[in-house]
Amino acid sequence: MANGTHVLVLPFPGQGHINPMLQFASPLASKGLKTTLVTTVFIFKSIYSDHPIASTSFRTISDGFDEGGFAQAKSPDIYLSTFKSVGSQSLASLIKELGDSGIPVHAVIYDGFMAWALDIAKQLGIRAAVFLTQSCAVNSIHYHVSRGLLKVPVEGSRIWLPGLPELKIWELPSLIYHHGSYPAWFDTIVNQFSNIDEADWVLVNSFYELEKEVVDWMSKIWKLGTIGPTIPSMYLDRRLKHNEDYGLQLLHPNTSACMRWLNTKPNGSVVYVSFGSLAEVGVEQMAEIAWGLIGTNAYFLWVVREPEEPKLPDNFKHMTREKGLIVRWCPQLEVLKHGSVGCFVSHCGYNSVLEALGLGVPMVAMPQWADQATNAKHVEDVWGVGVRALVDEKGIVRRETIKQCINEVIMGGKRGNEIKKNSIKWKNLAIKAADHGGSSDKNIDEFVAKITS
Ligand code: UDX
Repeated sequence: MANGTHVLVLPFPGQGHINPMLQFASPLASKGLKTTLVTTVFIFKSIYSDHPIASTSFRTISDGFDEGGFAQAKSPDIYLSTFKSVGSQSLASLIKELGDSGIPVHAVIYDGFMAWALDIAKQLGIRAAVFLTQSCAVNSIHYHVSRGLLKVPVEGSRIWLPGLPELKIWELPSLIYHHGSYPAWFDTIVNQFSNIDEADWVLVNSFYELEKEVVDWMSKIWKLGTIGPTIPSMYLDRRLKHNEDYGLQLLHPNTSACMRWLNTKPNGSVVYVSFGSLAEVGVEQMAEIAWGLIGTNAYFLWVVREPEEPKLPDNFKHMTREKGLIVRWCPQLEVLKHGSVGCFVSHCGYNSVLEALGLGVPMVAMPQWADQATNAKHVEDVWGVGVRALVDEKGIVRRETIKQCINEVIMGGKRGNEIKKNSIKWKNLAIKAADHGGSSDKNIDEFVAKITS
């Protein structure tokens, strides 16, 4: 163990936050740190894992909603404020308890959504690194808002920020573009930067080559380390790191049904469709997706979470038969890595984008909210690994558009071939960054050296 150094890793309690932070904890463990993943009591009870988590131990803190988590709170506002007050006390007690039992905590790696964890670490004289789970581009936009450098509501139709492409205002994260839509979440994302200057390190799940210009700009403000993409080696085609964990799921994936079905399909013939762990797609939009998928020549594997199922058109499941498989949750990395998958219709949650990019799967972007419109802009215009399916004046992506976009990506043609070429290019760059001696691997080494010094 490197110096016996013990770090707590504290993700915000959501699938899109736990995945990257657990997957970051694994290489830390392989480099000799003792890592403990701290989840809320409710999340700990919900964890499902296909594989044992080998390298990281678990402890819990309370968010004040031990029986039902987020869903138990009456509103995001109540959840977030309770989590801050109860979580702060609970974290301080856990750190003291670990110290008393002879496993003192030397550093805390906390999710930016939990800025209060930094205050606790500082009060207890412990070093702290913030882990920002969104892209550098998105973090830079939120930072500018937090410091009053970008005023909200945003005026004009376009904005220009250092290291970023020109952005139309609808390409901004939704909490900025639709300012006032979710005030408690807006406060949380802006608050990430309230005390960040006190953090000893700023870690981002990105890699240098992916966001060079904005990384260079952010590195002038903080001790920044890009350490991504945090995708386990076995999926990213790089050398397996010692004792590496696969990840964990909060919903039970229908693994055997998905893999059996994919195994029967020709190479590149399947469209994988998923809108992540949170998005609520409207009934009209669900129908357009359904008929758009039926309209293509491709097979499709569509993740429709249980609460979304009633929104599927009547009889749709029955009608899809051999052409499509609908599941409530899947092992996304295994699916994206499967040779039969030729296109990913995605809401562009940042983890999904990084996973598709790291596994070389071209995308059709259908952003829903949060950072997704900005991610989709990058997918299409900056990285060239997909197309955006644009909404009509009612805010719906129509079936014809969905069909056209999928065909463009999956069937080739000039643009489709260019997208495929770019997807392979970015996959190789992602592997290189994460592999031994790559930019992210070096940043992790540097972080470990400092934290153990
Ligand atoms: C949320 C936000 O919505 C997103 O915009 C932000 O960038 C991160 O937090 P979420 O909507 O769940 O996340 O999307 P995403 O970031 O893509 O994370 C979903 C994770 O769940 C991915 O790691 C994906 O591999 C996994 N997943 C998804 C599965 O394992 N199985 C599935 O069926 C669907």
